[in-house]
Amino acid sequence: MEAARDAGAILSAEMARPKQISYKGDVDLVTETDKRSEELIVARIRNHFPQHAIVAEEGGEGSVAKSRHTWHVDPLDGTTNFAHGYPCVAVSIGLLEDGDPLVAAVFNPFANEMFSAARGEGAFLNHKPICVSTVEKLSRSLLATGFPTDKVARSTNIHYYWGYTLRTHGIRRDGSAALDLCSVACGRFDAFWEFGLKSWDTAAGTLIVREAGGTVTDMSGRPFHPGDREILATNGRIQAEMQAVAADIAERSATSTLMT
Ligand code: IPD
Ligand code: CA
Ligand code: CA
Repeated sequence: MEAARDAGAILSAEMARPKQISYKGDVDLVTETDKRSEELIVARIRNHFPQHAIVAEEGGEGSVAKSRHTWHVDPLDGTTNFAHGYPCVAVSIGLLEDGDPLVAAVFNPFANEMFSAARGEGAFLNHKPICVSTVEKLSRSLLATGFPTDKVARSTNIHYYWGYTLRTHGIRRDGSAALDLCSVACGRFDAFWEFGLKSWDTAAGTLIVREAGGTVTDMSGRPFHPGDREILATNGRIQAEMQAVAADIAERSATSTLMT
């Protein structure tokens, strides 16, 4: 939490300044701020846990290649938002032990919201316990999703976006997967799904959702592990309906020319 808060201060300080944007792909942006935030977090983790491994989005790796403990760091989740001055961004830090989430922190410096969790100890927003929503029906739900910053044209998610839009109160596409997961954890969204996320996007948010009483699986209900290709996080109550609709959409879209 301390590292996430201090890295968040870098994001706040640099949001208003002109940004040096580079491209990792057609629409995959990276700024100097991503790198500065990552340097701070990686240095902080190395200092406290020199034996742990680190996987960080911009390539800052720990000195230990193999360890039971691996930190997954997204120094700026929502870089496209950041580059456009839309204040929906977060620092996401998750620790896995033998592949399972153990502790997590996601900080949005613009809302001053610190989400945190530890396995078996619950989930918190600014130190107050949080829990998932009590919405029971898909038709009464608000969902969130995201689209990959690379290979957008090949994303099958447009089919799911369409299918869920017709069956819910609506879909938000807010541009930070880590915050989307936290919004499920604290009941703002009833479910979130996405394809192609990386371990640093989900390592922290997965634990925060589970500790808040939610469920995190793939689109078919199999348990999710950070780094898996698809994620479905729900309040548990609409899980079965989300899966049933996903199966229907997958079947229909398999024959569509949009799908490659
Ligand atoms: C992105 C965000 C976005 C999601 C993309 C991610 P980044 O992370 O989480 O919400 O839709 O798939 O790549 O690149 O801003 O760290
Ligand atoms: Ca990310
Ligand atoms: Ca990022």
